[in-house]
Amino acid sequence: MSFAVAIDGPAAAGKGTISRAVARHFGFAHLDTGLLYRAVGRAVLDGSGPVSAARDLDPAALENPLLRTPEVADAASRVAVIPEVRAALLDFQRAFASRAGGAVLDGRDIGTVICPGAEVKIFVTASAEVRAQRRLDELLGRGIAAEYAQVLAEVRARDDRDSSRSAAPLRPAADAVVLDTTDLSIDEAVARATEIVAARR
Ligand code: DC
Repeated sequence: MSFAVAIDGPAAAGKGTISRAVARHFGFAHLDTGLLYRAVGRAVLDGSGPVSAARDLDPAALENPLLRTPEVADAASRVAVIPEVRAALLDFQRAFASRAGGAVLDGRDIGTVICPGAEVKIFVTASAEVRAQRRLDELLGRGIAAEYAQVLAEVRARDDRDSSRSAAPLRPAADAVVLDTTDLSIDEAVARATEIVAARR
């Protein structure tokens, strides 16, 4: 039986960590849909056209650790405004969501566009300052040089682009539970998300 958990929210709000933990807890599969846009963004940086890169995307490309750089994040946010790119990535995401045994998908438009009928929808958010600090810690932890002011500016630029685009803008679904992690530890945020999912099972 399928059971879809949609976890949306802005960059660095904690979606990824929460989604992985929820998937592990319930034994569900997990798809970080940002990686699809990052893989297309990476291909565009390498000279491909965005729409053909999205249509020809090989899921094996999602394993590339080089997708997690600020340069690729920016490229992803730019290709994500193109409706044909989003359309080309739709079937893969919907098929993943309806797989037997349950699935967690995290992104920007899972509860609004990809899985409007998801059994659980959570919108994870936090202040831009807290998200920038978390992203900075993550980058430094991975040995990538970064500065707070620059990371904060990138977080805000991505928020603006992701929220103001006309194709599937970032916004909570009407029936999503909003989980603000500004003042929560990651363990507290995971516990809260797990409770929300458990209550709907
Ligand atoms: O979650 P992320 O930071 O890896 O996402 C990178 C970009 O991809 C993000 O700025 C916007 C886009 N994206 C999207 O438009 N829709 C999704 N479901 C996931 C990501």
